[in-house]
Amino acid sequence: MVPLAAMGALLAGLVLVLCAGSGAAVWPQPQYLSVAAEGGCSLSTTRFRFDYANSSAVGPGCAVLDEAFRRYWKLLFPLGGRHAENGRSKVPLCDVLLVSVTEQGCDDYPSMDSPENYKLAISDEQMLLAADSIWGALRGLETFSQLAWRQDDGTLYVNKTDVFDFPRFPHRGLLLDTSRHYLPLIAILQTLDAMAYNKFNVFHWHIVDDPSFPYESLLFPDLTLKGAYNPATHVYTATDVKVVIEYARLRGIRVIPEFDTPGHTLSWGPGAPGLLTPCYRGPKPSGSYGPVNPILNTTYQFMTKFFAEVSSVFPDSYVHLGGDEVDFTCWKSNPEIQTFMETMGFGQDYTKLESLYIQRLLDIVSSFDKEYVMWQEVLDNAVELKPDTIIHVWKDSAGLYQKEMAQVTKAGYRALLSAPWYLNHITYGQDWMPVYLVEPLAFEGTPEQKALVIGGEACMWGEYVDVTNLTPRLWPRAGAVAERLWSNETVRNTQDAYARLADFRCTLLRRGIRAEPLFTGYCDYDYTAF
Ligand SMILES: *[C@@H]1O[C@H](CO)[C@@H](O)[C@H](O)[C@H]1NC(C)=O
Ligand SMILES: *[C@@H]1O[C@H](CO)[C@@H](O)[C@H](O)[C@H]1NC(C)=O
Ligand SMILES: *[C@@H]1O[C@H](CO)[C@@H](O)[C@H](O)[C@H]1NC(C)=O
Ligand SMILES: *[C@@H]1O[C@H](CO)[C@@H](O)[C@H](O)[C@H]1NC(C)=O
Repeated sequence: MVPLAAMGALLAGLVLVLCAGSGAAVWPQPQYLSVAAEGGCSLSTTRFRFDYANSSAVGPGCAVLDEAFRRYWKLLFPLGGRHAENGRSKVPLCDVLLVSVTEQGCDDYPSMDSPENYKLAISDEQMLLAADSIWGALRGLETFSQLAWRQDDGTLYVNKTDVFDFPRFPHRGLLLDTSRHYLPLIAILQTLDAMAYNKFNVFHWHIVDDPSFPYESLLFPDLTLKGAYNPATHVYTATDVKVVIEYARLRGIRVIPEFDTPGHTLSWGPGAPGLLTPCYRGPKPSGSYGPVNPILNTTYQFMTKFFAEVSSVFPDSYVHLGGDEVDFTCWKSNPEIQTFMETMGFGQDYTKLESLYIQRLLDIVSSFDKEYVMWQEVLDNAVELKPDTIIHVWKDSAGLYQKEMAQVTKAGYRALLSAPWYLNHITYGQDWMPVYLVEPLAFEGTPEQKALVIGGEACMWGEYVDVTNLTPRLWPRAGAVAERLWSNETVRNTQDAYARLADFRCTLLRRGIRAEPLFTGYCDYDYTAF
């Protein structure tokens, strides 16, 4: 984090300009942004480059930044050398944005603790980007790319600008559901691009669920062979998963996979015989299956092997273990489970059985040195949890999520908010606005409780979403969540946000992301985006 006192001193006397006119519309809004009306630089396609400052702890060969320099150069000059430029421009040419990073660590993965703060100082004498880590430098490059704008004569221009920026919350996620509909690899990669444009830093991959099991397990290939929609075409191979993880890393995005159990597991059944609970109708098995069978030793043997693999495939220190919507009817119908309940003295309290399963699962997963996120039901059902569990709040009936946030944090757990951010829900009109106006800390609690809120996630559940409508449904609506999680809590003027978001949506179009319009209007690049 940037020391705030130092920042305040640097800012003394500067007039803060929010969004007005060309070159100042940045999304999400930086913490401090000052754009001068006069002075600035033009960037020439033949001369402009990104480079490492001499003072930087990382230099050429740092893949994350080398590749970011290439990406952002292309975003600035999409036509390469074919940009019309007015050679007679009186504006000084600035040839280089110098990037200086304090910490080493080019080969690392981003983590919850990675600093993402950065400073940008643009003047007609020099252009500097300083950051503690490469991840902060990535955020600064994004801001720089949004500050550049084309003048009428085609010249790319950056106003004299100072930015001091850092995220409000460390966990700013987006959930994609690849079980209800399979999303092709390319759609996931494009989503990661758009996430980086919005400074999102966590891809929550809800990779499997009841309808299909597209994650190709090397230890249990039958899971996809028998559980994917089509095991030849609708799967994520080990290579695909590696590609996603590296693509995300290069953009400063963590990949947290979700393997939801014991419910939401119907697609696991065919490939893992004996794993799911056989449901009974009267004295006989009905032929249908319920949640994972929590009374068998083989279940835990399976989970041990399965999560050993998951833990080695996904480098992030967190996995999402689901735990939501466990339907007890099937467990209740099964005579062996009834007997087990009696033996254990659980009575008719099936949350105790759920608790037993989850505790054993948490022991297994923590034995692989992983931490975990779980949906709120585990807390609601009084499952005994380890204190470092992150509770993901998703239920949104009549504003109950604020109460839940209060309960989760009162119990001392860290909380993630998604309840008001189910972007798969759509309504006519400007439905990004209520999403935008959510205040994650607006619940009753002490400052210590508020400090336990580590961020939130926009969710795009897949019942009615596949590759045909994913992108326009996500963007720019998810941008509303991105700004809420990045920017100062006082940034919540919808008129100002509208202007910047409409502008940013045009930027997304220009970058090839088919973001839907907010309202009437047009973009200069409407027609060239495809
Ligand atoms: C940026 O610079 C241009 C050209 O000097 C100026 O017209 C514009 O008002 C400036 N933008 C802001 C936000 O001051
Ligand atoms: C960086 O170091 C090189 C070699 O010592 C020097 O030529 C160059 O001027 C330095 N650049 C800056 C911006 O200080
Ligand atoms: C399950 O494992 C426990 C502890 O290892 C053991 O006591 C029990 O006999 C096993 N049950 C079966 C059915 O194998
Ligand atoms: C958020 O903005 C308010 C009002 O400008 C300011 O007092 C506060 O310090 C800012 N918060 C942070 C973390 O910078």
